[in-house]
Amino acid sequence: MWSSSVVARNTAVLLTLSLLKLSKGSSVVKSGVSNYSFPDDFIFGVGTSAFQIEGGWNEGGKGESIWDTYLHKHPTFTYDHSNGDVAADSYHHYMEDIEMIKNLGVQAYRMSISWPRILPNGTDNNINQEGVKYYRTIFEELVKANITPVVTLFHWDMPTPFMDLGGWTNAKVIDYFEDYARVAFSLYGDLVKMWLTINEPKENCITSYGLDISAPALNLHGLGEYLCTHNSLLAHARVYRMYEKEFKPDQKGKLSIVLDASMGLPKDPNKPEDVEAAENYLQMHLGMFAHPIFSEEGDYPRIVREKVNNMSRLQGYSRSRLPYFTDEEITALRGSADFFALNHYITELMSPPTMEPNWKVPSINQDTGVKMETDPLWPMFGAEWQHVYPPGFRKLFNWLQNNYQILKKIPIIVTENGMTDFGGTKDYDRVDYYNDFLYQLLLAIHEDGCNVKGYFAWSLMDVLEWTAGYTYTFGLYSVDFNSPNRTRTPKLSAYNYANIVRTRRIGFDYIKRPEDLNTITSK
Ligand code: NOJ
Repeated sequence: MWSSSVVARNTAVLLTLSLLKLSKGSSVVKSGVSNYSFPDDFIFGVGTSAFQIEGGWNEGGKGESIWDTYLHKHPTFTYDHSNGDVAADSYHHYMEDIEMIKNLGVQAYRMSISWPRILPNGTDNNINQEGVKYYRTIFEELVKANITPVVTLFHWDMPTPFMDLGGWTNAKVIDYFEDYARVAFSLYGDLVKMWLTINEPKENCITSYGLDISAPALNLHGLGEYLCTHNSLLAHARVYRMYEKEFKPDQKGKLSIVLDASMGLPKDPNKPEDVEAAENYLQMHLGMFAHPIFSEEGDYPRIVREKVNNMSRLQGYSRSRLPYFTDEEITALRGSADFFALNHYITELMSPPTMEPNWKVPSINQDTGVKMETDPLWPMFGAEWQHVYPPGFRKLFNWLQNNYQILKKIPIIVTENGMTDFGGTKDYDRVDYYNDFLYQLLLAIHEDGCNVKGYFAWSLMDVLEWTAGYTYTFGLYSVDFNSPNRTRTPKLSAYNYANIVRTRRIGFDYIKRPEDLNTITSK
């Protein structure tokens, strides 16, 4: 862990009194030290995923994932025409990654296994021992360093042979996902005690299957996103029940699925139709995944079922485009998570139009019937989609806590939250972002009684941001993608995060902007 002297030159006198001041845009930042602290049992971590950092796309016996195959066939698909062949080259630099994690002082590291690295064809008849060894070494090193590995089985890099069979639209893939999960639990279950089945099924199903904005850009709107959703949920339940029966009694691990959620707020809180639009959005985009698993009654939310059924009927379909679960499946899904794994980045403002020009017909957007906008006053530092509004984070925790009673018993763990910018190590805006979002999390715990027990910053280092390539960055560590060694350098946000982890409070003045230091000296 770094000593606090490393950042001494940036450290102003820490005031214990919180003075409010306005920063860029409308975001409110604080100074001093947070009045609340993170509870003793709260876990801090950082995250990455295999395709976004590993590279080594054809090394050590690895098979191809759909992202390898698609980007090779369509080299101009990403904004900067890049691909993941080398990425941050963690296939060769994983020991540096582990050092970086140690320096941050966090208790956990979220990473994913590349399915085709250990099963090159996706199926369990051919297990790639080099791939198996690669992950085993990482898990052993993490455990040796007292860092809990939190491992995602599927972070979007579907083995290409399954994609050729329709990927998640093909229900047979559920069987093969179960086989893969069984291999992973058998190989690593002695070291890995926290598992995540599928990362962000909503994002994966909408952008890759329903639309054409992520590989393999199937654009099967209106059907593809729902088949993928349905099968992803069933695959999760299958793996949860298999782990529960075959592994949990010995391995004693915990398992969940990662759900992503933007917070939806009414554009005008005084208009009942906007309030309803926000609720409809949340149910269609979050409830659709969360309700089957975390609600008492299970199944898709009633409003989701009604909306898709009604629109399907109006469009002349004799069956709903959203498939039905059997009673057995509803039961298997209900309660199939040991914690709520939540990814959150943004808040959007909702209002109810009947149709927007960019909505495809049919599509989940049209079925939802809600217009999503941002507030132009919320600042933006990188990706065009990321306007920063920290209070939405707290409101989202409260929405979850109010909707799912089970969250009184099992905790929410934030498995991703972070900010895009265009690179550089003096990332003052990212420092503010983490301070402000973590402060909202503290308020949710201490003032609202939300059961939040962990937070993973996204991401440990700059990664390949899918279709955006390397055009914007998320990392606490900068990666020089032009250097053969993919040199990693800590950003100010890394020092700031390490300080939060160490002190278990937010030091709003720990990293000072040069202009703020001038103000202090001139006083
Ligand atoms: C969600 C995904 O899980 C991750 O892979 C991605 O980099 C971040 N969000 C940011 O878009």
